[in-house]
Amino acid sequence: MEHVPVLSSEIVRILSPRDNSSLLDCTFGGGGHTKVLLETCRCYVCGLDRDPDAIQRAHEVKKKYNDRFDFVLERFSKIAEVFECGRRFDGVVFDFGISSFQIEDSSRGFSFIREAKIDMRMSKTGTSAYDVLNSFSEGDIADILWIYGEEPQSRRIASMIVKHRIKSRIETTTQLRDIVRKVYQFESINKKHSKIDVATKTFQAIRIFVNDELNEISEALNQLPEILNNNARIATISFHSLEDKIVKNWAKSRKDCVLPINKSVIKPYNDEILRNPRSRSAILRGFVYTKDRGL
Ligand SMILES: C[S@@+](CC[C@H](N)C(=O)[O-])C[C@H]1O[C@@H](n2cnc3c(N)ncnc32)[C@H](O)[C@@H]1O
Repeated sequence: MEHVPVLSSEIVRILSPRDNSSLLDCTFGGGGHTKVLLETCRCYVCGLDRDPDAIQRAHEVKKKYNDRFDFVLERFSKIAEVFECGRRFDGVVFDFGISSFQIEDSSRGFSFIREAKIDMRMSKTGTSAYDVLNSFSEGDIADILWIYGEEPQSRRIASMIVKHRIKSRIETTTQLRDIVRKVYQFESINKKHSKIDVATKTFQAIRIFVNDELNEISEALNQLPEILNNNARIATISFHSLEDKIVKNWAKSRKDCVLPINKSVIKPYNDEILRNPRSRSAILRGFVYTKDRGL
């Protein structure tokens, strides 16, 4: 499977690695950004990911780059704890969301393109999408769809989910997709002009909830002062407004020590979107962290 890292040359420009720089890739995934950084100069990169499936890909990177690379299996909301030994970094990158490996592996149950047991847990532990759909109350499901997916039909979809599970459990990704499509058909909501499937927001919402993605981001950002050197660089790639809002508000609240590198956000050019459609909604922000200014 080909994995193309998003906005990789912009990530290199923002992090500006040099020989002996120490960098942290908080969303190792397929190691795309890690490898680009390791190829730029003789820097060191620590890759971190919560997904046990990333371990195998990390082994491959380790084989090639030896002591210039390490991997940690952990959630990025734990970075202060992981590096409490005193390790400090000159740059950190976050590429939020899920990887193409996770989307395309049907055993992970993230995608409605193929029929698969619905699951969506990045860490493979804790409450799954299956648990949410089959045991949460109608009101809680509607709130999840509204808060994390901004799904306008959240109440109707939640009601249809509960009606469906009275007859039989919701086991698969395609069952959930078809429930959402049915709601849109019943309500005669014409989405023909949109290229995006009507089930997309529902899947996004449940995935964000199951993985506690928004809290993970704000907790990790708040811990950065504990693991960064003075003048360290920070790069974040968000894929929807809920993620980007957290980054934007965090930077605003830390104006005394977090300085934006660019006046506005960086988005991919059309040629990158054509080569890598996943980059379509990417929003990149870069910052310099300056301890001397206050914290
Ligand atoms: C978009 S992919 C990153 C792709 C990577 N930049 C590359 O080029 O190969 C996001 C990765 O971050 C991981 N991830 C998401 N949230 C995480 C969290 N809270 N803690 C640790 N890893 C996380 C996912 O498991 C996934 O592998």
